[in-house]
Amino acid sequence: MTLLKLDIHAVRNIVKESIEPTSSINFFYGENGSGKSAVIEAIFILGRARSFRSTNIKSVINFEQSNLIVTAQTLQPNGSSIYLGVQLDGKNFCCRINQQTIQNRSDLAYALPLQIIHPKSFELLDAGPQYRREFLDWGVFNDNDKFISSWRNFKKALSQRNSLLKSKDTAYINVWDKELVKYGTIVDEFRHLYLHKFKSVFLSILNQFLTIDNVEIKLITGWDNNIGLQQALDQDRNKDLRYGFTHSGPHRADLQVVINKRLARDFVSRGQLKLFVMSLKLAQMQLLSRVQSNIGCFLIDDFSAELDIPNRAKLLHFLSKMNCQVFITATTISDFGDLQNINNYKMFHVEHGNIKQV
Ligand SMILES: Nc1ncnc2c1ncn2[C@@H]1O[C@H](COP(=O)(O)OP(=O)(O)OP(=O)(O)O)[C@@H](O)[C@H]1O
Ligand SMILES: [Mg+2]
Repeated sequence: MTLLKLDIHAVRNIVKESIEPTSSINFFYGENGSGKSAVIEAIFILGRARSFRSTNIKSVINFEQSNLIVTAQTLQPNGSSIYLGVQLDGKNFCCRINQQTIQNRSDLAYALPLQIIHPKSFELLDAGPQYRREFLDWGVFNDNDKFISSWRNFKKALSQRNSLLKSKDTAYINVWDKELVKYGTIVDEFRHLYLHKFKSVFLSILNQFLTIDNVEIKLITGWDNNIGLQQALDQDRNKDLRYGFTHSGPHRADLQVVINKRLARDFVSRGQLKLFVMSLKLAQMQLLSRVQSNIGCFLIDDFSAELDIPNRAKLLHFLSKMNCQVFITATTISDFGDLQNINNYKMFHVEHGNIKQV
């Protein structure tokens, strides 16, 4: 997928702007507060129907307006042109593909697969396991279109089971145990299959940015590996009833990056942690383009805050060779470094919410 034309209406200080990005690297520069992150946020909202920096999505809508709208004309891998649109009035999201309202946000995510690096993205390794589960599932979701239905069935079984546990109503719990075990095991298998493919891609990318040996990436399944999920549920039954939730299952999974048997996040530097996270995200993008011949969209907000000068140059070189569309922001052009060897890029200047190609 490539964004051919992007229209942004009422996102932060951007009132109404339209740009025609290149299919390779798009640079955005401008002073603090000019609206660069707003551009990245608009693209992110179009693909994920949420913001990456505000949990309260209402705060993204321009103060003077009641609705935000982001639309784009995209070119899909099969050569077709698809129109995507997201509208938000502060309460409700309306997502459209080719003027048709869609119910599942996952359809948007398929049509616009994107990854983002921003000043807080080191949290992927530093914060709670739900970030890493989401990360992993994004990869599995784009890798295998059968994953989503099993994942939804698993979530439904989990939520039904948890309600029964809360109300201490055990009459039908076995029914939901069966569903949970069936779909939970499938979800776990999909995750393992994906991680198997992902590992080598990740390690080879990481090698280009860091020289650290004995790096491993591991999936913690979410229950005792020596027993099946059904047995884990049986063992936990009393504990689950006492606390009113299900202790074992793929909803408790985690992804660990380990160096010499120690968790990377416990001892690597902040800069190294960022390089780990960046390599994880780049690896997902690269795998996407290999497996589905689908071009994803890679967003980098605040390029110079994230990386030192040699790593910025390496990353730009890497991105220029990778099959993906890139949007990068920085405060000045010089932050992007030497662009002589970068082909077909476009440069945009952002000022007071206005975007001009230069
Ligand atoms: N809901 C809103 N309505 C109008 N303006 C807003 C809204 N939310 C934020 N802004 C303003 O929009 C401007 C652009 O914000 P943005 O975060 O995109 O700037 P930026 O160019 O990324 O700056 P920096 O270089 O500091 O990261 C800021 O001046 C901010 O105060
Ligand atoms: Mg910013």
